Parts: sequence; C-alpha cells; structure tokens
Amino acid sequence: MRVAMIGTGYVGLVSGACFSEFGHDVTCVDTDASRIAALEAGRIPIFEPGLEEVVARNTKAGRLHFATDLTEPVAQADAVFIAVGTPSRRGDGEADLSYVYAAAEQVARAVDGYTVIVTKSTVPVGTGAEVARVVARTRPDADVDIASNPEFLREGSAIEDFMRPDRVVVGVRSQRARDAMRLVYRPLFLNETPVLFTDLETAELIKYAANTFLATKITFINEVADLCEKVGVNVQDVARGIGLDKRIGAKFLHAGPGYGGSCFPKDTRALVALARRAEAPLSIVETVVAVNDARKRQMVDKVVAACGGSVRGRKIGVLGLTFKPNTDDMRESPSLEVVPGLVNAGAEVSVFDPEGMEEARKLIDGVAWCDDAYAVMSDADALVIVTEWNQFRALDLARVRELMRVPLLVDLRNIYTLDEAREAGFVYHSIGRPKVDPAAGNTEAAQ
Ligand code: UDX
Repeated sequence: MRVAMIGTGYVGLVSGACFSEFGHDVTCVDTDASRIAALEAGRIPIFEPGLEEVVARNTKAGRLHFATDLTEPVAQADAVFIAVGTPSRRGDGEADLSYVYAAAEQVARAVDGYTVIVTKSTVPVGTGAEVARVVARTRPDADVDIASNPEFLREGSAIEDFMRPDRVVVGVRSQRARDAMRLVYRPLFLNETPVLFTDLETAELIKYAANTFLATKITFINEVADLCEKVGVNVQDVARGIGLDKRIGAKFLHAGPGYGGSCFPKDTRALVALARRAEAPLSIVETVVAVNDARKRQMVDKVVAACGGSVRGRKIGVLGLTFKPNTDDMRESPSLEVVPGLVNAGAEVSVFDPEGMEEARKLIDGVAWCDDAYAVMSDADALVIVTEWNQFRALDLARVRELMRVPLLVDLRNIYTLDEAREAGFVYHSIGRPKVDPAAGNTEAAQ
C-alpha cells in the first residue's frame, strides 16, 4: 500500500516510520522544510528509543520518504493519515482543530483515485464527520472515505506500542474503508492483535475515554498515597494489593508528582469541555484535572516541609525535568511547577536531566544547569528526584551522601526502597510511604 502521513510530529513520525516497517511505501509530509531536511539527512527531531533505526532501515530500503509538499504523495496514496497538532485552545480547554481541517482541505484537493483519509490526531467526537464535510465541500467529485484511527502509543516505548499494540481502533463508515484499513494493518491481523471497527464517533470517544481513565487511575492512587502518608501505610503495598485484582490491573498505579505530557492533561481538559458542551458533564474528570493541577504545586510544599519549613538560601539539587523518562518532552511536566516554585521560595536550584535540558532551558529560568547527576548535589541541602530515569535509580548513594551538605532526599517517584535510603543514611521523603529518618532510629510508621 501507499501511505501519506501529514505531519511529522510525534505521532506522525512514529506512525509513518512504523507503517513503512509493516512494508508499506510511506511518505511523511511536513510544511517545516528544516524538519524535512533533517529527516532526509537521517536526523530525528525527537528523542524516542529505536526510532532512528526504524527510520534509517526503511529509508535505506526505499520504503520511507519525506516531502514538504503533499500534492504528489497524496495523489499516489491509498491511505492518507492526518497527524497534525491539536493543541488545547486557550481559555476553554477545547482542542484547536484548525490544523486538522486545513490539512483535510489540502488533502482533498490533491487526492487522485480511491483514497481513505484517516484522522490519527486525537480529535473530539464529531471531527471525523466534519472532515468528511470539508472534503466533500472542497472536492465533491473525489472518491474518498473517511476513517478515524486514534493512536495509543506512549512516549519512550512508542515503537513497541505501535508494533505490538493491545488493540487497534478504527472508526469507519463503509465496508470499502474497512477493507482499506484492514490492508493497512494487515501485519497486525496476522499477529492476532484485536482490531476493533466502530463508527467514527465511537473511535474518537474511545481515545479520550482511554486516556481519561488512565489519568483518573493515576490521580486515584496519588490521593490514596496522600492518605497513606497520614496513616502510616506504604502506597506501593496498597497498589500491589489492589492491582492483583484483574478487574483493577497492576499498571498505572505508581503514585507520583502528578501526570504530565502531551496527552493526558490536554485530553482530560478536552473531554471535560466536550462533555459540558454536550450537557453531560463528567464531574469525575473535572475533579481529576483539578486534583492533578493542584498536586504539582503541592510538590513544592512537600519539599519545603521536608527542608523544615523554608528553602530560602538553601541549595537544592533536582534530578529529572522531563514529564517521564526516555523522552526529551517537557510538556506539562511536574518539574515546571516544582523548579520555579523552589526558585520563587528563595532556593538556589541546580538541575540535571539526561535528555530534557535543551527543552527545559526554554521554559525554566534562574537555575544552575549541570552536566551530570552528581554535579547537582555538591554541597546541597536537599536532593529532589522529579523524573525516574534509570540512571537515577543506579546512583552511588554513598557518593551522593558524601557530596551533599545535608543527607536529605525527596523522592517524588519512589525509586529507592526505604531500606536502601535508611542504610545509606538519608532522611528520605517519598510519595505515600513512611518517612525514613536514620537519626530517629527507624521509619516514622515503625515508631
Ligand atoms: C499516554 C498514554 O499512555 C498513551 O496511550 C497515549 O497515546 C498518549 O498518552 P504518554 O503521555 O507518552 O502516553 O505517557 P504515559 O507513560 O502514559 O505517562 C503519562 C503521565 O502519567 C506521565 O507524567 C507519567 O509520569 C504519569 N504516570 C504514569 C504516573 O504518574 N503513574 C503511573 O502509574 C503511570
């Protein structure tokens, strides 16, 4: 099959590269000429494990191409995917669909022969139908079908998620579109991956409902973590105890500083707005959004409290800035609340992130930028772990202790066990677990 992918952002580039890995002939199109030039030269504009290899392999095999003009690739394509951005609109939180409709119009002008036009961006219910209207208005003669094919991949494991998904969801309106989409996903059918065909609106809502459910699950365990701290219980034991119930499931029960990233914050807000407009408000999701926003700010209070009530003049080292490990993505990262919050409270803050420094420099002021993890902690009064990069799990704690002025660790990701922290001689605050204080002999809960 010939595929055109409009937009080489995160979803577009990963999906385009993976479709070429399926054996399709794929052209990824973006109006940003410098981005396309970089991709043609084999430079990948995002950090995603394995992506560079997939792009290189398929470019070399002649199955993956890049272009700035969509005319040719779309004319030749059997399936055109629209994977342009849908940012949150300022003010009302709804997704801004202007890029999607603009792309649909250009695609409609360029199609030649039967083509299925697929929305891959996360879009509110009704967008596919509107894309169909835009296409019909622009080219009443075009032989096209519209489909909706939301993407569920996670940053950091996107290739694996794309090649071995739990399921694929495809919204269609005709048997012909269904057949075309079956060909697109043929390798997965052979793998017996469940492929769910629905109508356009259902596919659109499944994506929002999935992300919102996961955001709710995280927020639930985060609030339970706060309760655990008050009653002297370890949230990890609670998560394990409930997660073994298959109806609940063990995943997405890691308590932390609040969810961030390019999807959960945007999609939860968009679903809230959509539900309000439909006069079926989702009060659970509204609460999730509010609780998660507040949580990121509360992490500053947590560090301040761990430092005895004030961080003024204190040296604080921060490890991890990206919203999660294995990405350089800073969007809606808890660090964007935690770091400025500490700076505003008068702390001298040093930071390090393995991949996110370049992005972070555009967003954070007034901190010292360090070249490695150990550099942030020299003479520090406290060390705060914001993102759970593997390299932070493997720190030499004896060295950390030696470098710091005060052995105080605030771990917002629970990457150390209480025993490890105690044995290394740290006062250790984590999320939803008893405080460790070697001077007091034991953990708070055990006292
Ligand atoms: C998410 C969805 O998982 C994916 O299906 C969708 O297509 C896009 O949004 P992503 O944003 O890449 O993917 O990251 P994910 O791993 O889901 O994490 C999202 C946020 O939740 C991160 O800030 C992460 O730290 C947080 N999180 C996740 C927790 O705090 N606890 C958990 O147990 C899991």
